[in-house]
Amino acid sequence: MPTTRVPPILTVQQHILQEQKRFPGASGEFSWLLSGITLATKLIQAKVRRAGLSDILGDQGAVNVQGEVQQKLDVFANEVLAQCLSVRESVGVLASEENENPILVHGGSEKANYAVVFDPLDGSSNIDVNVSVGTTFSILRRPEGASLDDHERWVLQPGTKQIAAGYVVYGSSTILVYSVGDGVHGFTLDPAVGAYILSHPNMKMPAQGKYYSVNEAYRDSFPPRYAAYIDQLRNGGLGHPYASRYIGSMVADFHRTLLKGGVFLYPPTTDNPAGKLRLLYEANPVAFLAEQAGGLATDGERRVLDIPPDSIHQRTPLVVGSRTEMEAFEACR
Ligand code: AHG
Ligand code: MN
Ligand code: MN
Repeated sequence: MPTTRVPPILTVQQHILQEQKRFPGASGEFSWLLSGITLATKLIQAKVRRAGLSDILGDQGAVNVQGEVQQKLDVFANEVLAQCLSVRESVGVLASEENENPILVHGGSEKANYAVVFDPLDGSSNIDVNVSVGTTFSILRRPEGASLDDHERWVLQPGTKQIAAGYVVYGSSTILVYSVGDGVHGFTLDPAVGAYILSHPNMKMPAQGKYYSVNEAYRDSFPPRYAAYIDQLRNGGLGHPYASRYIGSMVADFHRTLLKGGVFLYPPTTDNPAGKLRLLYEANPVAFLAEQAGGLATDGERRVLDIPPDSIHQRTPLVVGSRTEMEAFEACR
């Protein structure tokens, strides 16, 4: 009688431990660090899922007696990530979109080897209208010779130095996508058991897609090259006319681009001449994942991962996507 083969169920924690075996001499500290991120994002998704109810069901004590207003979700997400990561002794520095300066944690410990940089809630303007939001993160190693309290140096490293990066989308399901530089893997949260389960092993971006993704309302203020490129996508110059999709949460727009191919752009505009997105915790993680999945990412002139950062919240234009669309962008000058 033929036996039914049941595919093994792999949680993200098991997967990280397997990946870690590839790095000789790795202790458990790196998987312990990543487990801080997975725990935090589970707590954030639980809050996001109840977002519309919090005013109705919110804790009376928190709102009235202590006089505190309901925390905005991006502040909540920031605090949860900081709390979950700061109990990991391997973390020396945290830098977040929500904090002007990096936060020093375990700075005095020789065991503090990593900096974690994150956007706790990306696309937060979409929260009130039930549209997907997410969290992005990037992990860097303490640079050789950097003192324990020189936290700027820990963080101001080009994207090529990322040892891991990823994101979580709080969408119609919650999915964690990450890479340690050995392919891209996606894990869907099973809400019944509270575990991220491997659902998208070894993700590859299709060589060409059907969609371009950009806020076209700003088109008149893009540099001419961008408008010419969008025209080429629309008029069938790449083999077929493209359709457009734009969510307004980079993490969700990128997730679609990773799965379906195509291109996501946030060009320079009159209001944001250097682009709007932040290099360290928005562009770098998605550029790292895109390259790992066979795609490319540029700021228009340079590979995103090669940009040497000079400030923590610096912005960059971003064009990221499939090989065919990216090569066409390169040729469009
Ligand atoms: P955040 O919510 O972290 O501030 O990021 C919002 C960003 C990004 O997610 C998105 O791609 C972009 O803002 C949308 O900007 P526009 O409304 O200008 O298109
Ligand atoms: Mn963001
Ligand atoms: Mn944000």
